[in-house]
Amino acid sequence: MSAHLKQDQPDDRNVLDSTAQGIIGEPLTRPDGLLKVTGTATYSAEYDIENCLEGVLVTAPFAKGTVTSIDESSVTDMPGVIAVISDQRMTPRAIQGTAGEAPITGVCKVDYWGQPIALVVAETFEEARNAAKHLVIEYDADDDAVFDPQAVEPKPDDDPTRQGDLASAMSDAAHSVDVEYDTEGHASAAMEPHAAIAEWDGDTLTVHASLQMLNYNISELADAMELEESKVRLIARYVGGGFGSKLGISQEIVAGSVAAMELGRPVRVVMSRQQVFQNVMRRSETTQRLRLAVDSEGKLTAFGHEALVSNLPEEDFVEPVLQSSHFLYAGENRLLESKTARIHLMTAGSVRAPGEAVGMPVLEAAMDELANEVGIDPIKLRLNNIPEEHPATGLPFGSHKLAECLKQGAKAFGWDSGPRKPRQNREGEWWIGTGMASAARVHNVGEAKARVTLQPDGTALIETDMTDIGTGTYTILGQIAGEMVGLPQDSVLTELGDTRFPRGPGSGGSWGAASAGSAVFLACEALREEIADKVGQPVDTLTFKDGVVSWDGGSSSLADVAGDEALAKEGHYEPGDIAEDYTAASFGAFFTEVAVNRWTGETRVRRMTGAFGFGRVLNAKTARSQCLGGMVWCIGSALTESLLFDPTDGHLANCDLAEYHVPVNRDVPELEVIMVEERDPVGSPIQAKGVGELGMCGGAGAIGNAIYNACGARLRSFPMTPDKVLAAMPDD
Ligand code: MOS
Repeated sequence: MSAHLKQDQPDDRNVLDSTAQGIIGEPLTRPDGLLKVTGTATYSAEYDIENCLEGVLVTAPFAKGTVTSIDESSVTDMPGVIAVISDQRMTPRAIQGTAGEAPITGVCKVDYWGQPIALVVAETFEEARNAAKHLVIEYDADDDAVFDPQAVEPKPDDDPTRQGDLASAMSDAAHSVDVEYDTEGHASAAMEPHAAIAEWDGDTLTVHASLQMLNYNISELADAMELEESKVRLIARYVGGGFGSKLGISQEIVAGSVAAMELGRPVRVVMSRQQVFQNVMRRSETTQRLRLAVDSEGKLTAFGHEALVSNLPEEDFVEPVLQSSHFLYAGENRLLESKTARIHLMTAGSVRAPGEAVGMPVLEAAMDELANEVGIDPIKLRLNNIPEEHPATGLPFGSHKLAECLKQGAKAFGWDSGPRKPRQNREGEWWIGTGMASAARVHNVGEAKARVTLQPDGTALIETDMTDIGTGTYTILGQIAGEMVGLPQDSVLTELGDTRFPRGPGSGGSWGAASAGSAVFLACEALREEIADKVGQPVDTLTFKDGVVSWDGGSSSLADVAGDEALAKEGHYEPGDIAEDYTAASFGAFFTEVAVNRWTGETRVRRMTGAFGFGRVLNAKTARSQCLGGMVWCIGSALTESLLFDPTDGHLANCDLAEYHVPVNRDVPELEVIMVEERDPVGSPIQAKGVGELGMCGGAGAIGNAIYNACGARLRSFPMTPDKVLAAMPDD
């Protein structure tokens, strides 16, 4: 029996508020935590598989053109070498969007520097790596590769939003800003490199791989290998971060599968850190123009946000820079327009919080410029302009906690309200200042299935091919089931990351918790119904707690109810028409204090407060961790993170964690997270919304605003590295 819900209507029953177990929302510790910190959680590359060969990818040393020959004999006599796989099937870009082209024997089209073109397979990793270095290839490089998005004519993306007359609203306004910002490309920089072990059993392919979206990855791999999905099994029990880079399959998986098929032995392929940087997705750099105008009361009359992004020719993905700008602030005269330049750098795709991660900081920096222009408190400017409904579509919001977040965050931080002036505070050689920004991120949900089984011993088992990419899925699904059927955390076992289980929603777009959680919730509702049947009592009179179901005048242990047979229910959640009737989003606010060195331009974030409203908190510890991680990304994207491509040949110059600067512990001060109480009946049947990405949607803007407030340098370029700060620093 299954319980299916296609959500067309808000669900304000708030079932999880009337249950008895009392674990939902509690900061319970991850069941997988101990395994991870003791090195006993098995990651994809770590399976000990008998007779396994090792493959190392060979990548193109040019940006655009054709590989004309691969001389296998240049390495076949080297120690340990088994084969060179250069089948065209392993070379499709294979990740989000464009699929590979039809195989053309002996020819390999290259679209970007570092694209995998062959796999060298040997008995040991060292032998494979050595041979991969010596493989002789010949190629024709085209001379028309373009690496600068400004050097080509961009094409408009979807239809722009045009309402009213932006230009006249700008010129008629009491105050306005018209500014251009740029942001640099980002890497996902997940700690675990991309890795796969492919193994065939007859005509069935099993791959241990580090992936976010098994439900979709299984179709991608089946397509690439020309197999039925029933002949493919993907396993990803633990994933060491993804941040978008593991949403789609990438070349190590297809190459490993082809090699294992041809060689009749299992093959492991692990990308080097450099290959991960060069291959698995960049966040596009952006150029953004903001035109904002307010009337004498500080109400927005003009809202213009235009973006230029880039991608390879033919790729579908567009960094959705304007995503939250569509609905965050009011303003009758609107223009939102995005364009894409086609260039020959690696595939641009989803990197944590695609769109808002770079769109929100720029919008929030322009709002700060406007507040300064008007001479009002930046929080007030935002509170003045929270729309009643979606400004373009007119759809009502679900629950909307931006104002609450602004107020609670300001209070906790100790924000000095009122008009602000830069360069008011100096401690020795350090200018001190504060800044704030709003946070917003669209709320997504996806189709999800999960099975919950009440076992004869009275414990519960959850099974879904949903992944836990460090986000806490194991923990929260167990909590939802425990809460619903009345079991403590250690009586619920959660099994994830295997396509043999019911299809989950995958981890991406911050939809995992609300979607997979709803599937588990629905399965448990069905389980409660069946338990009610078994004990012969109406379900709404039952209390489920600590492994016992009780009613007025009686009780039974869940083990007794289950009897010898396990009771299994499948929950199936589907997003329905509700998205056509409501705008659902998570909101928040950032406040930060920075110190800027007057001589070196170095910025240090001294403290940061984030207040976030994302519906029901399922686990206060894992949700807080998501917010903290997002805020750390804010520091990186504000101050240091930037992909640097060589303008002459398009190769990525900073392709490791020494040269691509993510914040380290010394860069991150004490961060304060406030989770604003919220239930959103539009968000999901469990009233939860997305939080995974929210924490990095705008905070880099708060840091930029604080730099201006500290030292008077208004930078319009992220990241705000010391050289840029110094160049913009006013003279004393
Ligand atoms: Mo996310 S960038 O959808 O993993």
